[in-house]
Amino acid sequence: MHSTLIDAYKRLAVTFVQGEGCWLWDKQDKRYLDALSGIGVCSLGHCHPRVTDTIRRQADTLIHTSNIYEVDAQQQLAEKLCPLSNMEKVFFANSGAEANECAIKIARLYGHQKGIDEPTIIVMERSFHGRTLATLSATGNRKIQAGFEPLVKGFVRAPFADLQAIQTIAETNPNVVAVLLEPIQGEGGIHTATKEYFSGVRQLCDQLGWLLMLDEIQSGLCRSGQWFAHQHQHIIPDVLCSAKALGNGIPIGACMARGAAASVIHPGNHGSTFGGNPFACSVASTVLEVMQDDNLAARAARQGEKLTQMFAEQFQRTSLEVDIRGQGLMIGLDLKKPCTELVQQALEKQLLINVTSESVIRLLPPLVIEDEQLEQIVNCLFPLIHNHLKS
Ligand SMILES: Cc1ncc(COP(=O)(O)O)c(C=O)c1O
Repeated sequence: MHSTLIDAYKRLAVTFVQGEGCWLWDKQDKRYLDALSGIGVCSLGHCHPRVTDTIRRQADTLIHTSNIYEVDAQQQLAEKLCPLSNMEKVFFANSGAEANECAIKIARLYGHQKGIDEPTIIVMERSFHGRTLATLSATGNRKIQAGFEPLVKGFVRAPFADLQAIQTIAETNPNVVAVLLEPIQGEGGIHTATKEYFSGVRQLCDQLGWLLMLDEIQSGLCRSGQWFAHQHQHIIPDVLCSAKALGNGIPIGACMARGAAASVIHPGNHGSTFGGNPFACSVASTVLEVMQDDNLAARAARQGEKLTQMFAEQFQRTSLEVDIRGQGLMIGLDLKKPCTELVQQALEKQLLINVTSESVIRLLPPLVIEDEQLEQIVNCLFPLIHNHLKS
């Protein structure tokens, strides 16, 4: 059907033409409840009026200049982001993968500056960091890597949530310069780890002079119930990557850093034509203002708790064994049985969900979701899950 598009995506047979809040409308004017937000992007809901105002105003004023000039909107956005994240400096990119590329380059420069010729980054099993060559090499999923060999060197892998495994690598590999992980693994099936694990990794990084680099592209910006998911664990990373919800749909990514990591990049080391343009940065500033003004972190925590509770109550009344995982409005229902067909079944019931890791229903609704819409998600999804597991 899409003969002029490279065949990169398996698409559902629906085209959305309009959005507002948690709702999307298709070409036939049928309304769908969006419990996925374009995979964690439209956290403020579709076409948020304050974001739309900024888009209009900025489109009328200035869209792009170049990073060879000063860009005030970048500075203003960085001044908003740094206090929220405890970071000191920011590099702006256009996507999550690009933000992670910047983090990987920071780690390598940091290593070379310490005299390590083959700097190596510890990465996790089941992780996802993007589709560029370096980020797919860092990703812990063979399906994402297959066919793209030779992979980028300089990564060693540990099981997620296993501090001992990192300690063992530390004992045998003198080239390690950093650890890169998602505090809540998203694509990998919504997995998190204990406070002890995170504080243990932080301590190890401090002892060995490694950078702790967190990929919060999916878990960040209020979704977990805090500005960033690692803040639940009371640790501060050295490098922090953000993207997705930062522009509420306008492409932007950010690689933030503090301490030594904030000063390894110098002119000539890194850059981007579009990254940090006045348009994307102004929109992202408005996104952060709305998140702050409407206290969306607290709202995500509250609504996430309700949704989790509602599902738990439904499952308790049955003998179904479903593992409910996640934090805030980043929720995974692990059916422990392949269930990708539920995406199509939910679509037919006008609900948008996603299945990741084959057996995990992933819910990433807009953070502005109302109680009534939470009920609609449960009322629609529970019978589908029930039928699926009983069949
Ligand atoms: C944790 C994480 N890192 C990186 C990425 C890649 O981001 P992008 O698709 O914007 O390059 C994603 C996208 O799903 C992600 O969830």
